[in-house]
Formats: sequence, C-alpha cells, structure tokens
Amino acid sequence: MSSQIAKKINSLREKIRENDHKYYVLAQPSISDRDYDKLIKELEALEAKHPELITADSPTQRVGSDLTKEFKTVEHKIPMLSLSNTYSEDELYDFDRRNKEGISAGEKIEYVVELKIDGASVSINYVNGILKTAATRGDGTAGEEITNNVKTIKSVPLIIKKDNSVKYKLKDFEVRGEIFMKVKDFENLNKEREKRGEKVFANPRNSTAGTLKLQDPKVVAKRPLNIFVYNLVSLEEELKSQEENLNTLKKLGFKVNEHFKKCSSIDEVIDTCHKFEKIREKLEYEIDGAVIKVNLIKQQNKLGSIAKAPRWAVAFKFKSKQAVTKIKDITWQVGRTGAVTPVAELEPKFLAGSTISRATLHNFDEIVRKDIRIGDTVVIEKGGDVIPKVVEVNLKERPSGSRKTKPPENCPVCGSKLFKPENEVAYYCENTECPDQVKGRIEHFASRGAMDIEGLGESLIDLFVEESFLKTYADIYKMKKIKADLMAIERLGEKSVTNLINSIEKSKEKTFDKVLFALGIRYVGSGAAKKLAAHFKSMDRLIEASEEDITSVHEIGESISKSVKRFLSDKHNRKNIEALKKAGLKFSFAESKTAIIKDNFFKDKTFVLTGSLLNYTREDAEEKIIHFGGNTSSSVSKKTDYVIAGEKAGSKLDKAKSLGVKILDEAAFTKKISEINS
Ligand code: IVH
Repeated sequence: MSSQIAKKINSLREKIRENDHKYYVLAQPSISDRDYDKLIKELEALEAKHPELITADSPTQRVGSDLTKEFKTVEHKIPMLSLSNTYSEDELYDFDRRNKEGISAGEKIEYVVELKIDGASVSINYVNGILKTAATRGDGTAGEEITNNVKTIKSVPLIIKKDNSVKYKLKDFEVRGEIFMKVKDFENLNKEREKRGEKVFANPRNSTAGTLKLQDPKVVAKRPLNIFVYNLVSLEEELKSQEENLNTLKKLGFKVNEHFKKCSSIDEVIDTCHKFEKIREKLEYEIDGAVIKVNLIKQQNKLGSIAKAPRWAVAFKFKSKQAVTKIKDITWQVGRTGAVTPVAELEPKFLAGSTISRATLHNFDEIVRKDIRIGDTVVIEKGGDVIPKVVEVNLKERPSGSRKTKPPENCPVCGSKLFKPENEVAYYCENTECPDQVKGRIEHFASRGAMDIEGLGESLIDLFVEESFLKTYADIYKMKKIKADLMAIERLGEKSVTNLINSIEKSKEKTFDKVLFALGIRYVGSGAAKKLAAHFKSMDRLIEASEEDITSVHEIGESISKSVKRFLSDKHNRKNIEALKKAGLKFSFAESKTAIIKDNFFKDKTFVLTGSLLNYTREDAEEKIIHFGGNTSSSVSKKTDYVIAGEKAGSKLDKAKSLGVKILDEAAFTKKISEINS
C-alpha cells in the first residue's frame, strides 16, 4: 500500500517538475493553471497524510516556513570571479591580442558572447542531483547563504533533470548565474508597494538584491524573481568549452539565456556585441553589456586569472542609457556632512528600469560651467545607475522663460547661514542639529555596511527625526525605553517595534571598525575605518593619536587624518561617543575581536603581503588576516612573522629572505584559512 502511495507521490512530483520546467524555464506552458493547481493540491494532500514521505526536493518544499534569522557566511569552494570592463572596440582588440600571446603560437581562439544580465549573482550547489545550498557572491571568496530564498524561485530546479547525453557524473557541482526581475514585474511590484505606502525600489537590480536578503521566504516567494544561469563549475570534472557548458546546463533543466553566440574571430565578437546592444531595448529584462569568454576551457586555464578577474573573459559595457527631459526647478539638498547640493527637479521620465524625477547637479560651479537653467531641456544619463546626472543642456532651443539660479544664503532646511570654505566648491550648513543632516547621518549609521540595523530605513528615520525621537545616534539605543510611545504611532504595530528594538540591540555586537565607520567621519569610508581600527585597536588610542601618528598608518593620507582629528576634537562628537560607549557599543578590539577570536594561526601575528594573489585582492587578504586577529604591515622587518608572497613578488620577498622571515605562498595561505574554517 505505502509503496503504491510513494509511487503516486513520485509520479505527481515528476509531473509538476515537468510543468515547472515547461512554464518557468522554457516559457512553453502545456497545461492549464487549473490542472496544475490540481496536481499541487493532490500532492499536498498525500504528503499531509504521509509526512514521512516528504523530501527536500519535493515541489511542495519550495517555500519554507522558518525565518532566516541570520544569513550565514559561506566560503565558495571555487572563487566567484568578477569581470574587467571594456568600453571600446580597441579594448576588445587588446583583449584578443593578449589572449593570443598567452596561448601557444598558432592556436585558434574561439569566443562565446553572452548578455551581461543586470541582477544579483548567485552560486547554487547541487549534491547528488539535489539543490543543497545557494549563496550570494559576497567578496568573491565568501558570500551569504540564501538557500531558503533561492528555493522559492520556480525557474531554479530543486532537482536536476536526467539526460543520458550528459556524460559527466556531476555528483557535486555549482551553478553560477544571475537572479533578476523583468522590468514589467518590477514596475508592478513598485506600484503595489506605493499603494501600500511602502518605499519603492530604485531599479530592478536593487529590488532583486533586497528581496534575496529578506528573512521570510514566504514574502520572497511572492516577489517575481527569475534566473539565467551561465556557468557550471565542478571540482571533479572539466568540461570542454563554454558552449558545451551552456548546452549541458540546458539539458540539466536550467534556464539559460537564448542570446549567446560562438564567434571565431574578434571582429565577429565586436559585431555580435553591437547586435546585442541593439536588441537591448526589446528585452523584457535589463542588461548592461555583453560578456565575452574564451570558449575552450583548456585555453581559459592556460590564461588564468589576476586578482579577482579572469584573463580569459571581459565585459563589454554598453553606453549608459540617456533620455531627454525638462528641468522644472532647481532645489538644494542637505547631506549628512552638511554639504548643500543642487538637485534638478525633472519632468518624470522612464529610463533604464525606473522613473527619474530628480538628478544631481553636483555643485554650483557645475551649474555655471554648463549654464544650466530652470526650464531648460536637458539630456540625463544613468551612469553607475544609481543617481542620474544631467550631461548636456540644449542651449539652442532654450525657452524664453528659462531662469538662472543661485545658491541659497541660508540652509533650505533649518535656515542657518551657509558657509563656503575656501578652495571648496560646496556650501555647508554648519548646524549639526539641522534635521536633514541628522537624518542623513542616522541613515548612514544604521545602513548595511555600518551598524546594519534592520528595519531602521529612510522613511522611519524621517518620521523619528520629525517627531523628535531621534536627534543623535545615542537616541537610537534609548528607543527601547519609549516602546509605548513608538507603538502609538499609527504606522507601527507591536511586532514591528519589537523587531526594530531587537535589531537595535543586535547592532551592539558590531565590531569596532564598523562602529568607527558608522560615525560618519568625513573621508573615513569602510576601508579606512578598518585600517584605523586595526592599527589603533581602540577609540581611546585613536583620540590620543596625533595627526602624524594617523598619517603613518599604511594608506591613510593627510585629509583623512585631519578629518579624524577635527571630528574627535569636537565636544559634541565626544559626548556622543561617550553616550554610545555607555549604551554598550564596541569602541575597541579588546572588547570585541580578541575576546571572541579563538586561538588560530593568524592571531596576534604580523603579516606583510607582496606580489599579486590569484584569488584575493590585497584588501580581501588583509581583511581575512584582521578578521582572524592578525595584523598587517606594509614593510618587512624583524617583527614580521610571515610574508605572504603572490605572483611577481619583488623586493619585499628578497628582504624577507635576507632577514629569515617565514614565507607563505597563496596555496599555503588559503590552507591556513580553510583549516580555521573547517
Ligand atoms: S561570467 C568568470 N557571464 O557580471 C566569469 N557574468 O562583473 C564571471 N554577469 O559577478 C562572470 N551576466 O554577476 C558572467 N553572462 C554572464 C553574466 C555575468 C551577468 C554578472 C555576474 C558577475 C558580474 C561581473
């Protein structure tokens, strides 16, 4: 009896998988929605009666009910490389020439040209044919595990298709691809969000990346995520070519983009890139270029990689999308540093995935140089795709009513007199309590790379600052005392206030370098914060340090050290830091890092990096060492414990040898890391 039920369950699963493949992968549905729902219901009913027969690869198991409390870091078995960009035909000819120089004389090179999908990259691991884990790219060596969210995407198979023409064993392999949203789906999602009073996403890429990091797979399942895969990587087997790779992926049931072409010369590659640029407008999803890959894997291996990118592949970036619109007004906006910048308020225009109604004008000098006036017709462009800019003004057909603008004398938000430092183009509002500055600073403080306070986003911060709940960073940590007041706000229910307070409490675990970055000291980005924190180890020592001491830190220049000194000499800032300390934030590595770092190879040793590593950038390698409690230094001395030598290591390696300092090559370095992780 039970074996008959098992058979029935299996046959239902097979049918559903077959239909999912036809519908979501091939876009060729073969049964009606009603019949499909019937199959699902039947399977659900049988599984409910026989829970012992439920397996992780059953189509009913796509959407889990558990929340992902924390996205675990996972090391990629094979690094996820990125691509160097090219922008011109000349650069593609150079790429071809370098490839020819890198392989044996006389060998022919074929290329495969693909679309560069503008989404979020993912690596999915299949073991014995079943989806096991999925991870974001992260820094290329390690990403975050997002398995529960990726499983909800119907075009991602939970189990691979059997195909006898695939000769590889593929017991354990990874599939690399791009998760994205179709432009129409993205627009509909934004419309719904707007109706519900929620914040809209800037573009399909942000919307995809944001969705993949949601904690509730049920919410993810409702979002229109999609995938194109472009690479199968396996440690056990070597495929012959990229073309074969794509065809194998298709046979295994994955969704591969239909637009790819094998080319036998660089001229054909260039021609294909231009053809792809032309079809860009007609596609249902966003692309930002073409990817050109050497076809034969043997040749790829011979060419190898440098730092984070392969030598055998490049991206050919398409020109930024432009549109013509009109400037309705020029307004002035106050940023978190107090800089007051002009913004063009535009007649709304749809461009590259979103509707643009504002563009930055950078500063007043730029307005004068380009002679930008209110009423002008302008060409706007999405460059790095985030904040659009005005690239050109139509001076010939300037309407008679166009008006020049000039910078305000007073802050448009708080009214205080503006100040323009000599040698700077920006005007500044010097009132540190100016609400827009406070909002901007708190937004930065709570943002993902800083204290990462989930739920404390732009709109809540605006509200809290306007209602005077938040004036300084330290007020964030007092919010638990005013829980009742917060719950009285119409938009906020008990659950969301509790969640917010929990994530505020959790942020106290952030390490000193993150706290230092979160403070928003001018010029101190996350990289500089890491270096300063690693060097000085505590805020007290950083406060005591002279400008000279700070500049002596590797890669910390004068403008950073001046800015740090200025910030830390200000009594308001010092008061704030004290309050944050009291709240329990970490202002030294002694309380955070060394206390929690177990003994390991790197701990308390000093390392010098030299030469180029294949699988890590200099920054990544330094980060790893610091993460495990070690130090890095830029010069070799007797105090150096190890020199990590990559390709083409030069004088530092010689010096290490002459001083008898121990040397690690990249493989040994990677081994030391994996020993800790295992
Ligand atoms: S290949 C070793 N192919 O572009 C090759 N990447 O800037 C690594 N991307 O992180 C990537 N479409 O997220 C490749 N057809 C395609 C792609 C593609 C989009 C993304 C991918 C990668 C980024 C590199």
